[in-house]
Amino acid sequence: MTATRDRPARDLLDFYTEAGVDALLGEDPVDRFATAEAPTPRVRVAPGVTSPPAPEIKARAATPAPPAPDEAAMAARGAAKSAKTLDELRAILGKFEGCALKATATQLVFADGNPSARLMLVGEAPGRDEDIEGLPFVGRSGKLLDRMLAAIGFDRASVYIANIVPWRPPGNRTPTPQESQICLPFILRQIELADPDILVCLGGPSAQALLGIKDGITKTRGRWFTFDTGKREIHAMPTFHPAFLLRSPLQKRFAWRDFLAIKKALDQR
Ligand code: URA
Repeated sequence: MTATRDRPARDLLDFYTEAGVDALLGEDPVDRFATAEAPTPRVRVAPGVTSPPAPEIKARAATPAPPAPDEAAMAARGAAKSAKTLDELRAILGKFEGCALKATATQLVFADGNPSARLMLVGEAPGRDEDIEGLPFVGRSGKLLDRMLAAIGFDRASVYIANIVPWRPPGNRTPTPQESQICLPFILRQIELADPDILVCLGGPSAQALLGIKDGITKTRGRWFTFDTGKREIHAMPTFHPAFLLRSPLQKRFAWRDFLAIKKALDQR
């Protein structure tokens, strides 16, 4: 009996799980029907008859509307520019309200590793594990990244790691172009302040956002690009994202080649 009664709820939960929903936005359920505005009764009142008092309409809790994307991108540019250090940048990002992803993420995922490192790697956006821990690349793809770095003699203490978007998109969906655009000034400033010798873009979206290239990652991986940090020109290379390598292990040999080239370039500088 109970099983039959619970069925729709379970079906709904299954649907949510398949759709990638794995986080609650609030702890307490909200009855949207109860908070809906009562409709104004369409009643004509005859002359001389006192009309009934108008129904009381409850004011809804004011949720500040997020700024328009252009406005948010402009605010992001100003805010990012004002940061003089990486600590200041992290604090400014923590207070920035222009990206709607902040509302659904658990916390800001700013960076991991050594900000003075010569090698900086930039991914796309935090996933579930990163959102929980507040650090980039700590989940399955992060473990693979650690092994790839170890293969060329690096670890978290000798590289600096960040993402284009510092808040987890719900259900690990791809950030929208607008979300990436709004967050871009912050990662650009982060690179400028960290001032690495070599920049590695992990995956196509990172390469496209940072290097302004349109081609896909299969075409661009392993190639050297010039990246202007704002302070100086450095070398940048796109390579496969570790999450892609987990799905397509045969491609690891190309990533291995890229990492060898990165190591060689660092040794020569
Ligand atoms: N994928 C990314 O692009 N970044 C992370 O931090 C984790 C997974």
